Amino acid sequence: MATKQGMELVDRDERGVDRAFRRDVLAGLAQPDKAIPARWLYDDAGSQLFEDITQVAEYYPTRAETEILNTRGPEFAAAMGKGRAVVEFGSGSSVKTPLLLRAIDPAAYVPLDIAGDFLRAAAEDLAQGFPDLPIFPVEGDFTRTVHLPQPAKTLPKLGFFPGSTIGNMVPRTAVDLLRSMRDTLSADDAQDAATAAARPMLLIGMDLVKDVSVLEAAYDDAAGVTGAFNLNLARRINRELGGDIPLDALRHEARWNDDFARIEMHLRTTRDITFTVSGETFSMREGESIHTENSHKFTRRSSYALLQAGGWTPTCRWTDGEKRFSVILAEASVLRSAP
Ligand SMILES: C[S@@+](CC[C@H](N)C(=O)[O-])C[C@H]1O[C@@H](n2cnc3c(N)ncnc32)[C@H](O)[C@@H]1O
Repeated sequence: MATKQGMELVDRDERGVDRAFRRDVLAGLAQPDKAIPARWLYDDAGSQLFEDITQVAEYYPTRAETEILNTRGPEFAAAMGKGRAVVEFGSGSSVKTPLLLRAIDPAAYVPLDIAGDFLRAAAEDLAQGFPDLPIFPVEGDFTRTVHLPQPAKTLPKLGFFPGSTIGNMVPRTAVDLLRSMRDTLSADDAQDAATAAARPMLLIGMDLVKDVSVLEAAYDDAAGVTGAFNLNLARRINRELGGDIPLDALRHEARWNDDFARIEMHLRTTRDITFTVSGETFSMREGESIHTENSHKFTRRSSYALLQAGGWTPTCRWTDGEKRFSVILAEASVLRSAP
């Protein structure tokens, strides 16, 4: 079955610029500690560069997570059952998705991503391998509750959130996101939400704390692919928001922040610079940075605590052979006030 007409939930101005992108960039550059939300790294070029990152030798998360998805299919089938609607948050190229779809034989697939063209091309590719599966791509921001297209709405749902994308968020935002996923996945139609079989589930990839040298290398590969991915954000700002940021004055930096258990990516200036974006002027001193991404790393306990805070109860957990990465299955918690 070809993919259904996609939905677009993006608010654009008359020149096609995403208003939220402009708002976030201008607000982020105006702060004393400059920071721009990581989701804006993913335009078409950024999404392609992320795919290239997944192939570099130092970037272990994709290989480790794929190993888990490849080897645990029968356990997934037993735990999740057939006939669910799989809703993938931040689906990107959907390369890992076939491993899950083959294991659990779902009744519909809804890939959801902010990078619209990339999303639709990936959904078309996936449809070739699953001719009988209804596929409904949705372009939008997964931090907001999404109203799912029919028939996904009425089926029991499985959220799929691989790639440790949850680690891009600080805990407060991650908890908000997990709660909003719970709302998106909760039955709002005819099905009996009270039965265990209909209760929403979430299969989520969460990268693990490990040796700092392994972590820093994964985000600063020798071939410079992650550097190109990071710098692409400044290139995108120049192109879409009429900016003139001097790219040659920015260098990629990835460093471990032990207090927050996360890798931080920055664009650090190599000299004093002044530039404009959407008609507003900004200055940065040599050595100042724009913080562009966080990748939080988890332990078993910290991942469970985050899921619980977001309204999900972990039921199964798998790691790869080298214990670098975890995939956790959780069920929407039954809300109660007892401790
Ligand atoms: C780390 S990549 C993971 C891609 C893929 N799921 C994987 O596991 O390889 C993050 C993906 O989430 C998407 N994304 C990031 N922030 C988003 C947001 N707020 N709403 C929707 N998609 C988002 C990006 O476009 C990108 O495709």
